[in-house]
Amino acid sequence: MRGFVPTPAGVVDQMVDQLFRGRPPTQTSTVLDPGCGPGAFVDGVLRWCTRNDAPLPRIVGVELDSHRYREAAQRYQPFRNVEIRQADFLQPCSERFDYVIGNPPYVSILGLSERERDAYRRHFDTACGRFDLYMLFFEQALRQLKPGGRLVFVTPEKFLYVETARALRRLLSGVRVREIRLLDEATFGPKVTYPAVTTIENCPPRGGTWVILRDGSRRLVTFPADGAALLPQLHDAGLRIVGGPTLADVCARISCGIATGADEIFVKDLSELTPTMAKRAYPTISGRELVPGKPPSSSKRMLIPYDSEGNLLPLEALGDFGTYLKGSRRHLEARTCARRKPWHAFHDSVPLGEILTPKVLCKDIAAEPHFWVDQTGAIVPRHSVYYLIPRHADQLPALVDYLRSEEATRWLRANCQRAANGFLRLQSSVLKRLPVPAELIPRGAAA
Ligand SMILES: C[S@@+](CC[C@H](N)C(=O)[O-])C[C@H]1O[C@@H](n2cnc3c(N)ncnc32)[C@H](O)[C@@H]1O
Repeated sequence: MRGFVPTPAGVVDQMVDQLFRGRPPTQTSTVLDPGCGPGAFVDGVLRWCTRNDAPLPRIVGVELDSHRYREAAQRYQPFRNVEIRQADFLQPCSERFDYVIGNPPYVSILGLSERERDAYRRHFDTACGRFDLYMLFFEQALRQLKPGGRLVFVTPEKFLYVETARALRRLLSGVRVREIRLLDEATFGPKVTYPAVTTIENCPPRGGTWVILRDGSRRLVTFPADGAALLPQLHDAGLRIVGGPTLADVCARISCGIATGADEIFVKDLSELTPTMAKRAYPTISGRELVPGKPPSSSKRMLIPYDSEGNLLPLEALGDFGTYLKGSRRHLEARTCARRKPWHAFHDSVPLGEILTPKVLCKDIAAEPHFWVDQTGAIVPRHSVYYLIPRHADQLPALVDYLRSEEATRWLRANCQRAANGFLRLQSSVLKRLPVPAELIPRGAAA
């Protein structure tokens, strides 16, 4: 069954403390643990009540997976106050609880069937774009929380900033999110990167949300009503230049490099090419080959069956290259893109005429943002490299200077999504929003 990640007892105890802080349960209180698994949070509530000599509230655990349901149901059979149900928590339910606590499943849309995705989209505002089940768990838990009730969830911190979670942030802007504590990265081993414990009360927002960062420092933030990401508030609110010019205004292109769909066929070392093949081969570079402090350079060549207008050339026009491709036909036909395109086409279209111009390059995933310049414009960036082409070629040096500035670096650190190892994702959608100084807009040019 998908999405099972057990919560360590230490984290459970911290969360239960948070759940009952200043508001201990009574005998008539009700606690819900959605996705209870074998019962980590049920145990946590029982421990808290024993330690604090408090009466046991009624605890309901809901679990979809039959094995884990049976395991929990058996364990808690002797406890009159504990009820374990085998049910889908994401089904409509009119029951309301004083407390909700849990560790929802982290299952991306890719792990769901088409039918499930459609059903969730119909029933949940948070089921937008490439949503994840934990976002829907937040929404359903809020529906089942009594007015004034308290919820504590541990989830990935991503919902604070990914675009997919905009609807969830909008939802959270309508309730009192008391605290978000970012947990140590190693809390769940490699299974969950960047976990966060969120404490919510089902009442109108008041006084902002304290975010406790991993270094122990605190920031007071508010969930904006439009669902905007919280990262700018968390790192450096002053850098957000609303309404000013952005990188999208000064660049004609901010794009991901070329995906051939079969680099093992289309990317070769120069020494492997015949003279006629070399005519169709262009210097190319991958993210790994970009080294900070060194100019971009590689002995690799990308064999490109397109003309400068981006038209795919027939095999007969490619000479030796065409013959070489025919030898790999079965391999190329197996690519998903070959279902809708000629078998020797690339995965993506190739705006070759536009790419072959002086430009800025950066890795798609990097520990720190670094920018390189392709001075001659000869390089065709691969899929792991983004390229930026200024609207006016003479702006290139000023643009690179700015991209390498402390100000731009700080903004990118604050606004880029994180990859698994804490590296930054320099996506074009984020790069386009980077505020730039007005001096970068050429005089007389419309931004
Ligand atoms: C991240 S695990 C947490 C387990 C346990 N609460 C803990 O913290 O150790 C999430 C649990 O949710 C269950 N689950 C997934 N989808 C569910 C659904 N729609 N309804 C109820 N449980 C679900 C999974 O089977 C899994 O046991």
